[in-house]
Amino acid sequence: MKEIFGELPSGEKCHLYTISCGQITAKVADLGATLVRLYIPGKDGKVDDVVLGYDSPAGYLESETYFGATVGRNANRMHNACFVLNNKTWSVPANEGCNNLHSGPDGYNIRLWDVVSHTKDTIVFGLHSPHGDQGFPGNADIRVTYKLEHDAIRIIYDAVSDRDTVFNFTNHAYFNLAGHTHPEKAMEQILSMPARFFNPDDAANIPTGELRPVEGTPMDFRIPKTLGRDIGADYEPLHLQGGYDHNFEVFCNPAAILSDTGSGRSMAVYTDRPGIQIYTANFTKGAGKDGMVYEPRCGVCLETQFYPDAVNHPEWPQPFVKAGQKYHSETKYRFTW
Ligand code: GLA
Repeated sequence: MKEIFGELPSGEKCHLYTISCGQITAKVADLGATLVRLYIPGKDGKVDDVVLGYDSPAGYLESETYFGATVGRNANRMHNACFVLNNKTWSVPANEGCNNLHSGPDGYNIRLWDVVSHTKDTIVFGLHSPHGDQGFPGNADIRVTYKLEHDAIRIIYDAVSDRDTVFNFTNHAYFNLAGHTHPEKAMEQILSMPARFFNPDDAANIPTGELRPVEGTPMDFRIPKTLGRDIGADYEPLHLQGGYDHNFEVFCNPAAILSDTGSGRSMAVYTDRPGIQIYTANFTKGAGKDGMVYEPRCGVCLETQFYPDAVNHPEWPQPFVKAGQKYHSETKYRFTW
């Protein structure tokens, strides 16, 4: 199914596309190749929409939440909004102090993507990003595929550029497995994550370079615990970021499992990326879908990615690709209920 989602200030129309498989249904928008709704059954048979979102394109254009959006070319932060590639310094827009967040104000999250194909359970979005777009080198052709399976949503990224460049995409869905209309239940959900290390950040959320063991800190989810249990702990990285907003190593798969006891829903995250950003919606506020007024900590993002600012840390896995090299990456969110 394809329906009108709304109109952009340019007069262009954007659309919502429905895909479904078994008991799972998703609605995705061409604006930002965005996951707008994700309906998952619970143990009592009741189906809930487990992602935060907006009712219209305006919500996505006016906010800085990146709800459900495709983020690129480079997800997360870049120190001093620049990087060096092939001995040349490339500057991208500084949109958070002197740093770059999610590639700047004209991110892929607010572009109108083409629809390459749409079947019952799969949609493929395409975007051409020219040389110099957001300051990045290379004419790039990017595809994002949402594919539903009977118990999962897979998000697949394919891209190629005609010059060496950076490819580091993520999806910025905020999950609340109790349903997005139950904000009070978000921090009661249990996170299980085998990560042994995380990246502490400075006050501007830029990694200090340290990979700190989670052992003995509130960042340790190797023994499952609720998101809320230690979020208020007296621990500098939590104070600086106002809660969890940190990258963790992906030690093995699933990289993380989030569970909601009340609905019986559980979500396992499988990824081929080296990092996962856990962000507890620390500053999320305002009107959302279905008459909701979202408040901080009403959901959690599990953003699979390269480590933040990896372009400036050659010791970490690198998000650079060669001209003509095919980039392929996949993240799967698998549900049980
Ligand atoms: C990322 C960042 C957060 C925040 C959100 C968007 O997850 O790490 O600090 O900026 O995006 O609101």
